[in-house]
Amino acid sequence: MTPTNERPYIIGITGGSASGKTLFLQKLMAQFPSEEICLLSQDNYYRPKQDQTKDENGIENFDLPGAIDDEAFAKDVEKLRSGEIVTREEYTFNNSTKIPNILHFYPRKILVVEGIFVFHFPEVAKLLDLKIFIDAQNKIKLKRRIKRDNEERGYDLQDVMYRWKYHVKPTYEEFIRPHKKSCDIVIPNNIHFEKGLEVIVHYLKSRTK
Ligand code: C5P
Repeated sequence: MTPTNERPYIIGITGGSASGKTLFLQKLMAQFPSEEICLLSQDNYYRPKQDQTKDENGIENFDLPGAIDDEAFAKDVEKLRSGEIVTREEYTFNNSTKIPNILHFYPRKILVVEGIFVFHFPEVAKLLDLKIFIDAQNKIKLKRRIKRDNEERGYDLQDVMYRWKYHVKPTYEEFIRPHKKSCDIVIPNNIHFEKGLEVIVHYLKSRTK
């Protein structure tokens, strides 16, 4: 695969945890040939568990901006922006027995950068050409998070509820929601995002022609 010489058009996608970013991104990516688009997720920049800040009950708080190696993340966005290939180990969340894949990211016409802090980290935010916020009500996000954390990330209900109340919700209020007013597009996803997705795809296709 050959890297492109053009500077990519960089889209940042944020939203509270379980707002539906992953599904939106899967559907967005499916609309473009892989030679045209690259997706870089903030999730692959979590610091190791032993380096995470613990709360007063000794529970790691993965919802603080410091949970992410933002310097490495911003550096890799810069690399892709200037046409370089990025190699990164996959983050395996709560599954310490899983052998992480080695991921390769290629510079493409469109670069999508996603995660709960992409608008919060100034070194990442300043590189974004378009800022999209996926929005959903708290009760809907919580319902989705309970299901996902149980099925995909191996957390039980008590664990999910604790972290929702003490880590996820406060972080949403402090570091994520404030960016809603200054982003370019808000896509509501309480029920579905199909129309919003269609508009974005149409716009991006017009740019990549
Ligand atoms: O996909 P999403 O944007 O929801 O991912 C961010 C969430 O991942 C954070 O709210 C954080 O609580 C969670 N997380 C986790 N376990 C980890 C690392 C992050 O549940 N080991």
